[in-house]
Amino acid sequence: MSHQLCIVLDFGGQYNQLIARRVRECGVYCEVYSYKTPIEKIKELSPTGIIFTGGPNSVYAEGSPKIDKELFELGIPVLGICYGCQLMAHVMDGDVITAKTSEYGKTQTFYNTDSLLFTGLEKENISWMSHTDMIDRLPDGFISTAYSDSCPVAAMENKEKKLYGIQFHPEVNHTKDGTRMLHNFLYNVCGFTGDWSMGNYAKTAIDSIRNKVGDGKVLLALSGGVDSSVAAALLAKAVGSQLTCIFVDHGFMRKNEGDEVEAAFADWGINFVRVNAKEQFMARLNGVSDPETKRKNIGEEFIRVFEQEAKKIGKVDYLVQGTIYPDVIESGTGDAAVIKSHHNVGGLPDYVDFKEIIEPLRLLFKDEVRALGTELGLSDVLVWRQPFPGPGLAIRIIGDITDDKLLVLQDADFIFREEIAKAGLDRSIHQYFAVLTNMRSVGVMGDGRTYDYTLALRGVTTTDFMTADFARIPYEVLETISARIVNEVKNINRVVYDITTKPPATIEWE
Ligand code: XMP
Repeated sequence: MSHQLCIVLDFGGQYNQLIARRVRECGVYCEVYSYKTPIEKIKELSPTGIIFTGGPNSVYAEGSPKIDKELFELGIPVLGICYGCQLMAHVMDGDVITAKTSEYGKTQTFYNTDSLLFTGLEKENISWMSHTDMIDRLPDGFISTAYSDSCPVAAMENKEKKLYGIQFHPEVNHTKDGTRMLHNFLYNVCGFTGDWSMGNYAKTAIDSIRNKVGDGKVLLALSGGVDSSVAAALLAKAVGSQLTCIFVDHGFMRKNEGDEVEAAFADWGINFVRVNAKEQFMARLNGVSDPETKRKNIGEEFIRVFEQEAKKIGKVDYLVQGTIYPDVIESGTGDAAVIKSHHNVGGLPDYVDFKEIIEPLRLLFKDEVRALGTELGLSDVLVWRQPFPGPGLAIRIIGDITDDKLLVLQDADFIFREEIAKAGLDRSIHQYFAVLTNMRSVGVMGDGRTYDYTLALRGVTTTDFMTADFARIPYEVLETISARIVNEVKNINRVVYDITTKPPATIEWE
């Protein structure tokens, strides 16, 4: 696929992926590489622009990430952000010192709007600072183009060499017009043309899948989640009836969900196999209450069922996996690659006879996967589905699982989701669901005593699901949800809302 490339060199900053996403939002394709990437490799990639991320170090600290000075002599425009800016100053023989006062948070900042970076912006605005070091003396040939009360060089540039640095973080929303600054760098300084869009991506991806697959057979394990659904849609457009999707319905989907997934793929001209295996799965979980055993049994059963179905198809040429870009990026510090902490039921290469794996979403961020799904014509129900664990509701019923408990949870969870959507919160709360605890307590209904289950509601906001905060759902919304659940769902007489963050809790309860 040929399009212009921007490289984000990662120095271990917490916003590395966010920068890349912002760049792509600007219509420019970009990839994240470790700062350790050899200069020869960078030359080979021939990027139209380079961005350095921030990082937790001080440029003077022993072992802190460094960069080859030659990078600044290639004629490729560079934008250094925070640590990246200080490093640029340091390598170009300026001085970086520890500031008298660290700057953290929203900061009044003054911009020189003659700079290509700040063209068209307000002269005074809020930026998001997070630094202890600062530039004390500019390198030769550089000028300061922004300042704040305690930071004389909030931005610097050497226009001739196309080297730019910003002390604050343009990629976070708190910096007013931050995306505009990145846009200015990409278009005014680097000369990107903006050739990255989902429409283009879809066309090229479909062509390249067609070329690769030829008349081969393709197999995909569909979970109904966003990634596997979008991958299925892409493959369907590319190779149609050569694609078989196996959807193992373990019976622990949310209310109506199995049918929704099946209906969503009814008109795509692919071979869609739905395996209704609830009884088999329930049998494997009979009397099991330990969370890890539940997960393990479900995982094993899933593979068995999938394998049985796959055998019926015989040898396939390609197996599709829904890997997305955040799973692929290695962190700048060279620590272990970012790997999903949970086994995703999509990955089964050991058990199926196939020639090669196709990962059609490997280059995309989650929001781009969604945009691609919409571009391909998938419904909002699938495209905007929240993450759902492979073992499904089985790990949202604490303790042993019965048919009755499953129904109770499905109904309660449905009401929760319905009310959240009604309140317009369904896209701002990143994951929300109900958990059936195995705790029972005394209640009163009408004139009678009840002794029934407590239902817990969980709602979180998060950027990466590695850490999370509990969502501040308005009391009135919680009140409606609670009233509806105890009135409409049998066997629940108490509803509680989980107000723990992750860590120390996890998002799921099991
Ligand atoms: P925890 O509970 O570890 O969950 O904070 C983090 C995110 O991962 C999801 N999750 C899973 N996803 N297979 C998956 O594909 C699994 O086994 C699994 N378990 C948890 C969870 O819903 C949350 O989004």
